[in-house]
Amino acid sequence: MAKFPERVFSGVQPTGNLHLGNYLGAIKRFVAMQATHPCIYCVVDLHAMTLPHEPAQLQRTTREVTAAFLACGIDPKANIVFNQSRVAEHAELAWVFDCVARLGWLNRMTQFKEKAGKDRENASIGLFNYPVLMAADILIYRATHVPVGDDQKQHLELTRDIAQKFNNDFAASIAAHGHGEAYFPLPEPLIQGPATRVMSLRDGTKKMSKSDPSEYAHIALTDDADAIAQKIRRAKTDPEPLPGEVEGLARRPEADNLVGIFAALNDATKEDVLKRFGGSQFSAFKTALADLAIEKLAPIRAEMLRLAADPAFTDAVLAEGAERARVIARPNMDAIKDILGLVR
Ligand code: TRP
Repeated sequence: MAKFPERVFSGVQPTGNLHLGNYLGAIKRFVAMQATHPCIYCVVDLHAMTLPHEPAQLQRTTREVTAAFLACGIDPKANIVFNQSRVAEHAELAWVFDCVARLGWLNRMTQFKEKAGKDRENASIGLFNYPVLMAADILIYRATHVPVGDDQKQHLELTRDIAQKFNNDFAASIAAHGHGEAYFPLPEPLIQGPATRVMSLRDGTKKMSKSDPSEYAHIALTDDADAIAQKIRRAKTDPEPLPGEVEGLARRPEADNLVGIFAALNDATKEDVLKRFGGSQFSAFKTALADLAIEKLAPIRAEMLRLAADPAFTDAVLAEGAERARVIARPNMDAIKDILGLVR
């Protein structure tokens, strides 16, 4: 396989309040990748339309996610930050991939089944097609690395399958147009770290979600210190003290989750955390966890509030990011059209 220059792409949907799970599972790693790679971070507003949406809310949450990116430390000068709908090449390539991806591949996507629920006949075509648009997001930039939460692994596999099939089906034309043996890289998911899957504070077997009926289940990035402390104090635990070893977390989902959160916030491993807290009661551990969470989240919250008061600033970041994204996306789309035999 040809060697492609390394480039990171990832996206976050502008739906509702961002929480600790979004931060530790995704955005914190976006920030880390900046040190080593050119990165493109996208607010995927077109994906947010796959379920019924409220226009005024979409506009607000698009700005909110942008503010969260910046507040968490993504540098929009060194990297590209923009909203998906501004760069038409995403949707343009998604159509091409609609003709590459097979119905059988999409029928296997588990997230569609979860999101469509029982009334599948009534789901939007966009919801079914969601992973194809996601493949286009990544491949229009020929990105090689994609930091995502572990629930996106299957979508990344589909992205690779689409890239591979395009490379195979059009191999002769790809070579004839001077692109060597493959036009698209096979992008790799980056899914690692102690808290790539942050679970609900009320139920360690369920993913942390803003739509959980209990507001104590998640910590929002805009929660103040009191709210954070209270939610951690009330978090579900079991009666045993913390184990000394990671193996001791097996079948203790709540303990595992809280230790994972501590580790991720502290840039440490679960082993490190248990070395320090093994044998402690949860009360002592929770106090330390609350202090740590407040220390890490307070500056993010303050910056998000500051940016919320200045939407012109986030809007300018998105507009400029889109210009720069298009500089990469347009020539790639033209090359893809040439490969496909579309006259332009
Ligand atoms: N589906 C992703 C999620 O829900 C969001 C997303 C859309 C994305 N396009 C992407 C993530 C491209 C990575 C790359 O988390």
